[in-house]
Amino acid sequence: MRVLSGIQPTGAKHLGNYIGAIRRWAAQQDEYDAFFPIVDLHSITFLPQDPEELRESTLDLAALLIASGLDPDRCTLFVQSHVPEHPRLAWVLECMTPFGELRRMPQFRERAASQQSFSVGLLTYPVLQAADILLYQADLVPVGEDQRQHLELARDLAQRFNQRFGETFTVPEATYPEVGAKIMDLQDPTKRMSTSESSELGILRVLDPPDVVRRKLRSAVTDTGRDVVRSPTKPGVTNLIEIMAAATGATPEEIESRFDGRGYAPFKEAVAEAVVELLDPVRLRFGELRGNTQELQAILAKGAEKAGAIAVPTLAAAYERVGFVTP
Ligand code: AMP
Ligand code: TRP
Repeated sequence: MRVLSGIQPTGAKHLGNYIGAIRRWAAQQDEYDAFFPIVDLHSITFLPQDPEELRESTLDLAALLIASGLDPDRCTLFVQSHVPEHPRLAWVLECMTPFGELRRMPQFRERAASQQSFSVGLLTYPVLQAADILLYQADLVPVGEDQRQHLELARDLAQRFNQRFGETFTVPEATYPEVGAKIMDLQDPTKRMSTSESSELGILRVLDPPDVVRRKLRSAVTDTGRDVVRSPTKPGVTNLIEIMAAATGATPEEIESRFDGRGYAPFKEAVAEAVVELLDPVRLRFGELRGNTQELQAILAKGAEKAGAIAVPTLAAAYERVGFVTP
């Protein structure tokens, strides 16, 4: 079985990304043949990117993923733009996608509405995503709920292509995190933690140093009570319990009984220590990896080579079926 998921290099990664995506991927690399593209081509669709920033953040993310446990020897970690087969397949898929289907995509509508003008790339974004997946014949694609329509499109395109040109692509299956796997904003625990929407105090970045983690958790919003229990009327405390459970492996029930009657201050301190213990090794390892750009680039070059070994023959088969003359 093959698993594939992509992540955009732009925007600092936070605890939600780490727990909801990156850490799950690391757990999958021994069970599956795993592919993880850093999707830099997708990153230029929305906001104008500063070239130097894009380059830096791509290398930062590569280092962060490795520091988080993605092992380039046990999975295929690569940069999307290093494998030209992605846009080459996307073109063919674009020619099989009705315009109206893309125009109706919720993420497109939201983003297009937030800008005065937007690029064609923003519209065709989900087709490039489908190409990312189909090129590798991925069986499983772990993503967040917000990607549901994009994954439906990838499945439709695989089926459409296969029907028209003969069996070529695996029809991928999306997998979503279990309920409750959502990390909420520390200041507004009714919203999910998010790079674009959370305030500075609401978000815990994977690379935040320990004193910053402690400060943010100390000022996390709770409520006026003092009971450490999960409840729909206590979204802040519930979120902190979920964070501590995810960070330590303890069950939420164990955490509730451990802090029963002790009030919020010692509880928040314990959550902070749990998060520091979870993230600090990642931050330290990140520093080592990011300090050696040459080695990082060599790792990514090797990843692109491994990716190409699958992507090149898949694209060749697809182009041949479409009727392009073999070069
Ligand atoms: P994004 O940064 O929104 O593109 O998210 C990348 C991936 O991280 C998503 O597909 C989710 O699986 C995961 N993710 C993002 N935000 C959260 C969150 N607050 N809680 C849990 N998982 C999240
Ligand atoms: N659109 C995805 C996101 O914003 C990122 C992505 C690009 C992706 N290509 C992919 C996810 C392929 C899964 C599979 O999160």
